[in-house]
Amino acid sequence: MSSEIALKVAQAVDENRLWQRLMTMARHGATPKGGVNRQALSAEDRAARAELTAWATKLGFAVAQDDAANLYVRRAGTEAEAPPVVTGSHLDSQPTGGKFDGAYGVLAGFEVLEALERAGIKTKRPIEVVAWTNEEGSRFQPGAMGSAIYAGKYRLPDHLNSVDRDGVALGPELAATLKALDVPRRPIGGAVTAYVEAHIEQGPILESQQLQIGAVTLVQGSRRYTIEVTGEEAHAGTTPLKLRKDAMKAAAAIVLALEQAFDDPTDTVRYTVGRFDVFPGSANTVPGRVFFTIDFRHPDRATLTTLTDKIEGIAKANARGCEVKVTRISDVSPTPFDPAVIGLVRASAAALNMPSMEMISGAGHDAMHIAHLCPTGMVFVPCARGISHNEVESATPADLAAGARVLAATLVELANR
Ligand code: GLV
Ligand code: MN
Ligand code: MN
Repeated sequence: MSSEIALKVAQAVDENRLWQRLMTMARHGATPKGGVNRQALSAEDRAARAELTAWATKLGFAVAQDDAANLYVRRAGTEAEAPPVVTGSHLDSQPTGGKFDGAYGVLAGFEVLEALERAGIKTKRPIEVVAWTNEEGSRFQPGAMGSAIYAGKYRLPDHLNSVDRDGVALGPELAATLKALDVPRRPIGGAVTAYVEAHIEQGPILESQQLQIGAVTLVQGSRRYTIEVTGEEAHAGTTPLKLRKDAMKAAAAIVLALEQAFDDPTDTVRYTVGRFDVFPGSANTVPGRVFFTIDFRHPDRATLTTLTDKIEGIAKANARGCEVKVTRISDVSPTPFDPAVIGLVRASAAALNMPSMEMISGAGHDAMHIAHLCPTGMVFVPCARGISHNEVESATPADLAAGARVLAATLVELANR
């Protein structure tokens, strides 16, 4: 990485401007504890999209959205028709999300566009920032939906009937989100020269190593399941134990049996039951139905498959007379990134005198889908105590700017090749 232009744009990245934009964006869905609740296709998500669109329009960038409501901000290149170099992340959040998960990747990308614009630096290829729809998957399953559709892994029509907790379907929420923004529609998909996504690490490694930059080599694999346990409602005071089909106690037994089966002294397995709904939810009725989710992750495909293939058998073995339905709703293989992009991220950091390290991503990201289309990589920056998916998530303006500078140098280098 030697290009003077790349270094110049890295220097043009404005720490304060990026920070102010992050704080402004965090007002959309702001929670009392200082985080955000801006779930996919909600009114708050729409407000965030409108904010980004207004900023982009003011600077003269072209804005468009596709049928999945992926939102594109493009700065033209001197070769207008060349496939763009793309960056971005997501504006949706977890219900108790932080200010940086996702928003950072979008706004770091936007800061690169603004820095280029203000410094009057042209690139050969266009550079495009994308806010991918529904990365979190907390409201509508599965997550990373917009990028997976872009990459051809999912089909939009298959997800229009996905419902949230209140029974609201994705289709009408998507239509309302599209309608709320007066920007041109473009087709989903298309050639991409390269993709680089900036993100907070969401884990403790960079902080413990006192490093500002991580170059991601691989996103670990994940499989997600819904489990439905159906028993029989009965009176809590009168029904003898042997006549009960208690869906709650069966579900609890399943959760703990799986925890034992997944015991891993190396602490590599990630097994999480994040949602657990008990019906009818009345203190004096034996629960007749339980719905819960399993999020399972591992960096090794064979282990991911072997361990999760045990879920159904273990669930049925602990059913306690209830019926158990196991549905796999997503399956993402461990995704290695492109060695050349990883090398370029590290070279950009080195050129800016920032020590860096290579690392695996424990979290999923839109980059894992786009990696199937083009050379892809990610830039990680530290976050306090590695805490994320939490309203207290925090990161320093200096670390965020450092990541945006490395992103800038990397994007410009790719856009001028
Ligand atoms: C994204 O937030 C994930 O679940 O990894
Ligand atoms: Mn994220
Ligand atoms: Mn997240």
